[in-house]
Amino acid sequence: MERWPAESIWELVSPLLPGFTVEVLPEVDSSNTELMRRARAGQTEPTLLVAERQSAGRGRLGRPWQSAVGDSLTFSLGLPYAPRDWSGLSLAVGLAVAESLHPDIGLKWPNDLWWHDRKLAGILIEAATVGGRSQVVVGIGINIRPRPAEGLSTPPAALTELWPEASAGAALLRLMPALVRTLLDFEPQGFAPLQARFETHDVLRGREVGTSDGRQGQALGVGPTGALRLLQASGECLIDSSEVSVRPRQ
Ligand code: BTN
Repeated sequence: MERWPAESIWELVSPLLPGFTVEVLPEVDSSNTELMRRARAGQTEPTLLVAERQSAGRGRLGRPWQSAVGDSLTFSLGLPYAPRDWSGLSLAVGLAVAESLHPDIGLKWPNDLWWHDRKLAGILIEAATVGGRSQVVVGIGINIRPRPAEGLSTPPAALTELWPEASAGAALLRLMPALVRTLLDFEPQGFAPLQARFETHDVLRGREVGTSDGRQGQALGVGPTGALRLLQASGECLIDSSEVSVRPRQ
């Protein structure tokens, strides 16, 4: 049974986010779906919702998100949010989570955390407009302990490989203040001030990659809005669509 440091998280985060609450649910369809439902119903107070089990966890591009009960951390943070520019938000979130958990965690554009070319965590960001004000829901799933590959070509990475004593609660306590500070800074500043830091974690930079919409080339890093710079035979192009996925070709 996980012991959640809900009170410690509240003490660290509520000075940054007035009205902040922490909630742990034993089961929900998806913590993102739940916070989006609440937002549409007018419940927009800053909320951290931790799901011990998700019956319909969702990933990017309409994919399901599988997590092992007790061996994963699945949560969403919802809050009123009106950034100057939304571009690069998922990269900023990935950077905050990676830096707070371990300096050697890699980032795979646009928002996966990688360890030794295996996926450690994923991020799903959704937004809604409620009564003319925008609301964001940042959902994060992290593999804490190893789990079987279950049809995947490579088994996912787990946080205990790089932080042996890691638990879901300890990881959440470490990352929450950094995540909230990053979201608050991003609102007026956007991604540009984080570009150089992202680069130090970028696992695609310099590698040959292929995209799900059929492009191939060398990844050159990211631009000031977080777009992926791809060098093709025809020249450099920018990929900024969150509908595209990218994989290294070797
Ligand atoms: C991805 O890599 O495709 C994104 C995965 C995001 C998973 C998290 S788990 C908590 C939150 N609730 C969901 O249903 N999805 C996100």
